[in-house]
Amino acid sequence: MKYRRLGKTDIRVSVIGIGTWQLGGEWGKIFEQAAVDAMLEKAAELGVNLIDTAECYGDHLSEKLIGQALKGRREKWIIATKFGHKFKPNFERDCLFEPAQVQEQLEESLRSLKTDYLDLYQFHSGNDEMFDVPGLWEMLRKQVKAGKVRHLGVSISRKQGSMYQVDKSSTVGAEAIQVVYNRIERKPEGQIFDSCIRQNLGVLARVPLASGFLSGKYSKDAKFTGSDVRSVWPDNEMNEHVEEVAKVQSEVPQGTPMAQWALAWCLRHPAVTCVIPGCKTVEQVELNAMATDLPDIRDDHPQAV
Ligand SMILES: NC(=O)c1ccc[n+]([C@@H]2O[C@H](COP(=O)([O-])OP(=O)(O)OC[C@H]3O[C@@H](n4cnc5c(N)ncnc54)[C@H](OP(=O)(O)O)[C@@H]3O)[C@@H](O)[C@H]2O)c1
Repeated sequence: MKYRRLGKTDIRVSVIGIGTWQLGGEWGKIFEQAAVDAMLEKAAELGVNLIDTAECYGDHLSEKLIGQALKGRREKWIIATKFGHKFKPNFERDCLFEPAQVQEQLEESLRSLKTDYLDLYQFHSGNDEMFDVPGLWEMLRKQVKAGKVRHLGVSISRKQGSMYQVDKSSTVGAEAIQVVYNRIERKPEGQIFDSCIRQNLGVLARVPLASGFLSGKYSKDAKFTGSDVRSVWPDNEMNEHVEEVAKVQSEVPQGTPMAQWALAWCLRHPAVTCVIPGCKTVEQVELNAMATDLPDIRDDHPQAV
């Protein structure tokens, strides 16, 4: 595994992390504890040390499964979770960004993860008004002082995410940005990444496989079950994904699995610290972690350690 420093923090993360929205049950699969144990064991064996979860991947469900799996080994991991939402069925959420609500969520996340500190606590894709809720960041900085949170971050929304939040990150005390970035969604190149480099913010590239499409395994006829978030995508979004993936297929070196190539592609950018592909099986964890061996992931990257 290769490692990079997360911006100006003292955190050293594996370039390939693991995303765990999937564990909340919204990706067409219910996870038993034993399956999660096996995935995280394989990840650790391959040098993966970064896990991204959230309060609303199930009602703290993903966090609970992770907490149980990492019992006794918590300090070997960098745990990133998020605040601002309450899980509801049918892919819905309530937004809760008032300081007292977030403080409550923090305690629930700590309990669920069976830990007394979080490595990275991220604002979860709210709009600018939510970002500016009075007292929010003051309360969060107090949690840092109290040792419950090591570092703060901002996960910007695909739809509502704004340059405002990125540019203001250092001012509010956030040290990392999480953003959708992959070979077919390159909007962060330019203003967002420039601002991250200027502020020396760590960057977690999320949705690096374009929701699985950048593995090359889906056609326009793909059908997802009702419990899979991709089942509620409009047809045109699905078609666009398939068409965009087909256009980049020729860039994949012969013999390299497309998913691995897609992860390594994200890690070429000087602003990007790590990728956090969502995984559903031990095989996916393994294949994704092995992307670290591809030559695109260079030792002279500015954040390499
Ligand atoms: N607002 C936010 O902060 C936010 C929003 C979205 C995501 N995230 C975080 O980012 C993580 C990653 O994003 P994502 O999970 O939405 O999208 P993604 O990582 O682009 O795609 C994940 C999906 O790709 C498929 N996959 C994974 N590895 C594969 C492999 N080696 N070969 C073939 N298929 C593979 C799996 O689904 P199938 O096998 O079923 O195709 C998996 O569910 C999430 O888990 C979550 O932690 C955060």
